[in-house]
Amino acid sequence: MTTILHIDSSILGGYSVSRTLTADIMAKELALHPGARVIRRDLVADGALHLSDAHLAVFQGGAVTSPALGADLAIGGAYIDDLFAADIIVIGAPMYNFSVPSQLKAWIDRVCVAGRTFQYGANGAEGLLPKGKKVFIASTRGGIYTGDSPAAVLEHHESYLRGVLGFIGLTDVTVIRAEGLNLGDEPKAAAIAQAKSQIAALAA
Ligand SMILES: Cc1cc2nc3c(=O)[nH]c(=O)nc-3n(C[C@H](O)[C@H](O)[C@H](O)COP(=O)(O)O)c2cc1C
Repeated sequence: MTTILHIDSSILGGYSVSRTLTADIMAKELALHPGARVIRRDLVADGALHLSDAHLAVFQGGAVTSPALGADLAIGGAYIDDLFAADIIVIGAPMYNFSVPSQLKAWIDRVCVAGRTFQYGANGAEGLLPKGKKVFIASTRGGIYTGDSPAAVLEHHESYLRGVLGFIGLTDVTVIRAEGLNLGDEPKAAAIAQAKSQIAALAA
């Protein structure tokens, strides 16, 4: 049975464009894979703590010093289990301050774990997630960062996500992009329509 991991990280709730697009991608993928199992992670409603000295102490063999820390360590472990279980990973990723939301960064900090999701060998870093997983990123941003936009130098969003996902072995990444969302009603509507038609055309 196909397993689909659905992650959202927008803080804009019902106004979020990326949440709308991940819902559309999920609907499409569930139509393509009837009966698929869904794992849901809303990183705003229920996110992980930022990594801390207490987390690192436990990673180095120290004691779990509070129930809250124990619960948070369990969430981090579950995030990694999600990635191993999923065949398809759908990530809602708005651009906030030229990169990903801190909620999504906190998730990344928990899934990049040496010996679990990557390792260093003779040829450098190697991702440890099994091959064949597909990732869809719903990328939303207020400005334009593609083409010859002068803002391209500030694009630490899709490029970062592609880089870090590839680092842990997730290399089959499709970006569904709606950008220029803060440039007025018409550009916003056109960007969303283009992203939705890209989703409608997904074949796998
Ligand atoms: C806290 C915050 C920071 C943002 N920073 C940027 C930014 O650096 N560049 C940009 O182009 N848009 C920025 N935006 C605009 C969002 O990328 C845009 O509103 C997009 O629709 C957000 O996706 P969402 O609707 O799923 O939350 C920011 C929005 C918020 C709320």
